[in-house]
Amino acid sequence: MTHPTAHASGTFAIGGDLTVHRLGFGAMRITGPGIWGDPVDPQEARRVLARLPELGVDLVDTADSYGPFVSEDLLREALHPYPGMLIATKGGLTRHGPDVWQPVGRPEYLRQCVLMSLRRLGVERIDLWQLHRIDPAVPRDEQFGVMKEMRDEGLIRHLGLSQVSVEEIEAARAVVPIATVQNLYHLARRDSEEALAYCEAHGIGFIPWFPLAAGALAKPGGLLDDVAGRLGASHGQVALAWLLRKSPVMLPIPGTGKVAHLEENVAAAALELPDDDFAALDAAGAAAWAEELAQRG
Ligand SMILES: NC(=O)c1ccc[n+]([C@@H]2O[C@H](COP(=O)([O-])OP(=O)(O)OC[C@H]3O[C@@H](n4cnc5c(N)ncnc54)[C@H](OP(=O)(O)O)[C@@H]3O)[C@@H](O)[C@H]2O)c1
Repeated sequence: MTHPTAHASGTFAIGGDLTVHRLGFGAMRITGPGIWGDPVDPQEARRVLARLPELGVDLVDTADSYGPFVSEDLLREALHPYPGMLIATKGGLTRHGPDVWQPVGRPEYLRQCVLMSLRRLGVERIDLWQLHRIDPAVPRDEQFGVMKEMRDEGLIRHLGLSQVSVEEIEAARAVVPIATVQNLYHLARRDSEEALAYCEAHGIGFIPWFPLAAGALAKPGGLLDDVAGRLGASHGQVALAWLLRKSPVMLPIPGTGKVAHLEENVAAAALELPDDDFAALDAAGAAAWAEELAQRG
């Protein structure tokens, strides 16, 4: 049976020279509960990875801390030498147990992260390496400085940041070129609008994480239900279609450990949102986020 592929999502050139289909895959969910240890169903996780090239997915996001190491190891086992694919990884977060993430941005540790990801992924250069978090306990220029050194040495082709403001992106760009920004962003989570606009203005790829979520918009009988029902799509597919239409630099990376879910998510690349549905969802998501902020005080 043929399935829609990621081709319909269009392309984006990361760093101006690594062209990928905009709808990618997040490899965080091929690990155990709490993103700790092996996945509950390792064979299904392997089937998910094997299905990626067949579905035209050529942008895969991982991190050394997913498992830790489990995600990078499985990617190598299933996809090495990654023909036609861009494997983006991250470093700078340590793991002390399920759902526990602690930043360590000391330059010698970031260098170890990169050297170990190179070994685990079995590559001589990482196409896209992202600083998972800026460590507030270490001067940020030291973190950006070692990133620049590793790029200059040829260990990394392009660099990215995660969970950053415009001011932080600019501070990093004063030291070294930044190709991507990966922030929490979805229909009803809109605090990175300024970062998105900045990325759009500067040709930086914007990778929204948690892209399938829709917050309060997902309630039964709500707008998302209505649009999804009329288009014969799932909530998640509509959320992804909204993201893809929101900006040409948007590179969503929905994650799953299940082949059926992967196929459903990839099919969203071909889902066309009518203009008025896009506008209504855009406005309703912004309003839901404003209301959530007001409730938080
Ligand atoms: N930079 C960062 O700090 C950061 C933080 C978090 C995540 N990320 C990255 O972003 C990627 C995506 O984020 P995310 O995994 O948090 O959010 P997500 O992709 O929006 O959602 C994943 C969750 O939705 C479920 N799911 C996926 N497809 C589904 C479908 N078609 N139907 C029903 N359920 C479905 C998955 O469970 P099943 O496995 O059961 O499908 C999983 O629980 C991650 O893989 C990772 O690469 C980055």
